[in-house]
Amino acid sequence: EKQGFRHFMLKEIYEQPGVVRTCLEAYLNSDWHSSNGKPPVNLSLPAELYTDLEQIQIVACGTSWHASLVGKYLLEQLAGIPTTVQYASEFRYAPPPLMPNTLTIGVTQSGETADTLAALAMEKERRMNQPPQFKPRLLGITNRPESSLGLLVSHLIDTHAGIEIGVAATKTFIAQLVAFYCLAIDLAYRRQTLSADSLEKILEGLRLLPAEIEMILEVQERYIEELAHGFVDTQDFIFIGRGINYPIALEGALKLKEISYIHAEGYPAGEMKHGPIALLDAKVPVVAIAMPGGVNYEKVLSNAQEAKARDSQLIGVTPKDEGEAAEIFDRLLPVAMVDEILSPIVTVIPLQLLAYHIAARRGLDVDQPRNLAKSVTVE
Ligand code: M6R
Repeated sequence: EKQGFRHFMLKEIYEQPGVVRTCLEAYLNSDWHSSNGKPPVNLSLPAELYTDLEQIQIVACGTSWHASLVGKYLLEQLAGIPTTVQYASEFRYAPPPLMPNTLTIGVTQSGETADTLAALAMEKERRMNQPPQFKPRLLGITNRPESSLGLLVSHLIDTHAGIEIGVAATKTFIAQLVAFYCLAIDLAYRRQTLSADSLEKILEGLRLLPAEIEMILEVQERYIEELAHGFVDTQDFIFIGRGINYPIALEGALKLKEISYIHAEGYPAGEMKHGPIALLDAKVPVVAIAMPGGVNYEKVLSNAQEAKARDSQLIGVTPKDEGEAAEIFDRLLPVAMVDEILSPIVTVIPLQLLAYHIAARRGLDVDQPRNLAKSVTVE
């Protein structure tokens, strides 16, 4: 039931701190310390899944595809494993050349998405009668271990988010992100690509995230609701981000378009000048995700300034106390100052709330948007 919330989507947004806690409890060894010889992560996956791993390919659709893009970033940057992410509907009809020692991951919260299942079945089939190094190694990341996905793949990571009713995925997305952080940490630990210090820092940062999400929900929801009122008649939105927050720009745009029916696009901020900047004027707000700490911060701010010069209203998802950002942005959706590598788990929260409140204000059926179904079981 909705437990006093107006829509399931809002209830599910509020469940996210708890979901992150549950996932971390399930995946992390709480008594890990760099000196005690235990691995930091326990996903209950057999070692042969990882042996001699040369590449990872991920197939997914929609929001699960966005989580997979964050996953690619983590698997490559933390564990050093070349990773591709493909739309399941494309992968199936243009499969990449067979490479040895490949882990194929299917990401689907429902475990019933026809395109994702078909892509995985195709991969399993074409690898079956191959020499040992080409044999299928399939891993599913899902919120429904009892689903059709569970029957197709031999190994699963359960995302423990609880049933999600709103068609727009929120808490299952956050849970997929946590699963990818833990998978990447597990691989990094086994392959020794991270120092004990960096490992500890990331693990510590992960544990702080639930409280940081709670802060955003407590402090900002009312403000975002008010901000959303100003955008009920807006026709186009652009979301920009770089690096690990580029997929969050895509996700912010998808959330907005699917429940509010407002046209929205997400772009890697540096791509704006190669075409999309021509769309900008005073009628097209730009939401920029700018997390301090790396080179992406300065770059996003300068991309945001280019948008401002075209009269776009600028909304910044950025920590509050950053003087420079406060001057550039017309409105702020402040998030906690977290390490850039962990930031997607906080930066997506205000974007979910923004999409929710714009759609709710427009009087739309937030939980059951037109033309969409919770599980897309047709190709
Ligand atoms: O169940 P899945 O994760 O496989 O679903 C994939 C997409 O259909 C899904 O993420 C869709 O994009 C959502 N409505 C997004 O909010």
